[in-house]
Amino acid sequence: MSNSNNLFVKFKNMPVDSIIKTVIVATILCFVCSMVVSFAAVNLKEIQDVNKTLDKQKNILQVAGVYYNGMDVQKTFASFQPAVVDLNTGKFTDKFDPLSFDDKKAAQDPLLSISLKEDPALIGRRTNYATIYLLKKDDGTLDKVILPIHGYGLWSTLYGFIALEKNCNDIFGLQFYQHAETPGLGAEVDNPKWKAQWNGKKLNNDKGDLMIQITKVKKDPNHDIDALAGATLTSNGVDNLVKFWMGEAGFKKFLNNFKDGLA
Ligand SMILES: Cc1cc2nc3c(=O)[nH]c(=O)nc-3n(C[C@H](O)[C@H](O)[C@H](O)COP(=O)(O)O)c2cc1C
Repeated sequence: MSNSNNLFVKFKNMPVDSIIKTVIVATILCFVCSMVVSFAAVNLKEIQDVNKTLDKQKNILQVAGVYYNGMDVQKTFASFQPAVVDLNTGKFTDKFDPLSFDDKKAAQDPLLSISLKEDPALIGRRTNYATIYLLKKDDGTLDKVILPIHGYGLWSTLYGFIALEKNCNDIFGLQFYQHAETPGLGAEVDNPKWKAQWNGKKLNNDKGDLMIQITKVKKDPNHDIDALAGATLTSNGVDNLVKFWMGEAGFKKFLNNFKDGLA
């Protein structure tokens, strides 16, 4: 009989409650499970990435108000024109392919981003280049501008989009596609009733000052959004991130240029 057979018989004959046998069985089990998990993670990554992209596209359609159940997301998304904006100049740039440019990766790259000294959205670094989406009407005229936004809430970074009308000041909608705030509390940012408040609000006043805010005491019908009940910290996070991205360090320069035809 070979050595390995001897070992196997020895192992088999060990008492069931032997510590060595328990450790060996547990180790083999961990090894097999880790192999299964790694195999699934590697092999499902491509499908996960495709689903993530589809989900993002669906959210862009939703925030622009053109999504309905059962629609072909990819087909409708093709009517949106992606473009990369240089946030420092406030103008479009053709340095990158908008279809493949990854804003999230760029924000981690010291050559493509800046470290923020003033960081109300708690994001650490801000990408210098961001992908925006232009929705055109059938006659080719601009309908909406969709801008990516992100920032920290209470537990997580919230990633989403804000859709603006073509005057670049009236808000059509706001929507997050990724966050880990608490269901029933911070996650009420996904509540359609809360989101509906954003429709028709204005970013700036007539003088061009950024006025949009989330507040517990709503006074100004043009700029005030109700804070979420029992979730002041997430509300503050969303308030900060919207102000950051719509402000000077975010898209303000681009929006001013774009509405004046200078982007
Ligand atoms: C388990 C747990 C989860 C919470 N999740 C959130 C959250 O996601 N967002 C949030 O703003 N507050 C959350 N809170 C509540 C905050 O701690 C804090 O009390 C709240 O933001 C204050 O809001 P209020 O002034 O409207 O009551 C959570 C509290 C607990 C105990």
